[in-house]
Amino acid sequence: MNASGDVESRLRRALPDAGQNILFGAEIPVRHHADWTRLPPVVPLALVRPADAREVSAVLRVCNETATPVVTQGGLTGLVGGAHPVAGCVALSLDRLTGIEEIDVAGATMIVRAGTPLEQAQAAAEAAGFMLPIDLGARGSCSIGGNLATNAGGNRVIRYGSTRDHVLGLEAVLPDGTIVDSMSRLVKNNTGYDLKQFFIGSEGTLGVITRAVLRLQPRPAVVISAMCAVAGFDELMALLGALRGRLGPSLSAFEAMWPDFWNLMVSKLDLRAPFASPHGAYALVEVSGFDPERDPERLQGVLSELLETGVLEDATIAQTSREAADFWKIREGVSEIRRAIGPIVSFDVGLPAASSDEFVRRSETVVRGRWPDAIHVAYGHLGDCNIHIIIQIPSAGAHQPKGEIDDLVYGVVREFGGSISAEHGIGLSKRKYLPLSRSPAEIAMMRSIKAALDPRGIMNPGKLFPS
Ligand code: FAD
Ligand code: LAC
Ligand code: ZN
Repeated sequence: MNASGDVESRLRRALPDAGQNILFGAEIPVRHHADWTRLPPVVPLALVRPADAREVSAVLRVCNETATPVVTQGGLTGLVGGAHPVAGCVALSLDRLTGIEEIDVAGATMIVRAGTPLEQAQAAAEAAGFMLPIDLGARGSCSIGGNLATNAGGNRVIRYGSTRDHVLGLEAVLPDGTIVDSMSRLVKNNTGYDLKQFFIGSEGTLGVITRAVLRLQPRPAVVISAMCAVAGFDELMALLGALRGRLGPSLSAFEAMWPDFWNLMVSKLDLRAPFASPHGAYALVEVSGFDPERDPERLQGVLSELLETGVLEDATIAQTSREAADFWKIREGVSEIRRAIGPIVSFDVGLPAASSDEFVRRSETVVRGRWPDAIHVAYGHLGDCNIHIIIQIPSAGAHQPKGEIDDLVYGVVREFGGSISAEHGIGLSKRKYLPLSRSPAEIAMMRSIKAALDPRGIMNPGKLFPS
């Protein structure tokens, strides 16, 4: 029997009742051949869809003993190729490992299985009178396990922090099949190494997360969205500072949009712009509060003052949830942009907030210097110092020169002392550039941790680390 035949028979023996939940080669649905990054598809050797940690453990044990690569797949919405299959791998999908196991009202925690879609977990928290603050555009498809494995950011980091800040405990399976129960529900727990942190942001390179204990927040009584227009970046920063100062922790989102981004969204996605005339920059502001009477008045008052003092050129507060959804479509419609304009190259860089605009202008100059027809648009979570850039070279058609664009933009990131990834992670797409953001000592320490937990190197090989 050849090596892959041996893996096949051992996997079948490990999961004797798996039926359609273990598939090989041509039987594997195309959905599992690639993630949202849309790299050239790779057909895995096998697809397994375990139902619980015990089955994950049985699969990993076989893969470890046969040195078979494992690529863990959640909702496949990752933007750096982290869940993209590698040749000869077992794709381990969490799509059956779903559901909310428990909501502890007194402790304000929930236990969620890793494959549960984020939106489902958010809805369950809300139904119990809480809020799960992790929130991003891919909420309908991305999984809690994927959110943890990428330490996802999103729209509410400005108020509540990244995914890492909402995790109290987790359960993970190591490559040798050991199930690590680290399901602490305690907010304070100083008993040695904080093991959950090894898995949060590890992008499937150390083990498989199977469950998580998440911390919940009180559900706001009122959430208000406002679209703001300003003359330029200085005013955008002044607006952010004023809203932070005046609204304190009730400011729950501040999503900046440069005019090129705004114009692209409105024109290509055929959206209704809330302002009659063009402006130098825009911000979608969200306020979450506990006083449905006074919170809207307070926001209205602050915006009126900022209009009077000239910080704002225009602003409009959503009066209905439909209007709020229309505002968010301009910001989150970005998930449709590839369908509307074709292939793009995108970035999620971390920068000192005050340099964001200078960075955007420098990146645009450098890219347009090479391709004068380049589309270069910017937006992002400005309150978290996290800017997204989308680039398309129309003259390059279907074959965007991604490598060359990456080299240019990451060169500018280095000039500005920024991070090559503020939220999407490294995966396949950015591993070459990791040394721009992490020191040799840091990368060596990461490699030591990888070698200790995954000595045969089966978990997501070729991802995260520079080759
Ligand atoms: P996948 O794509 O399936 O996997 C991502 C990585 O995690 C892979 O390396 C995979 O191997 C690993 N992994 C998945 N599940 C597990 C597990 N259970 N155990 C161990 N490893 C695992 N990201 C942000 O941070 N902020 C945003 O605002 C944001 N907005 C987005 C908007 C859109 C429209 C899209 C398409 C993506 C967006 N993303 C954003 C990126 C993406 O949604 C997140 O990275 C998300 O957390 C990935 O979850 P997933 O379940 O789809 O993971
Ligand atoms: C966003 C994703 C791409 O914020 O991170 O739109
Ligand atoms: Zn983002």
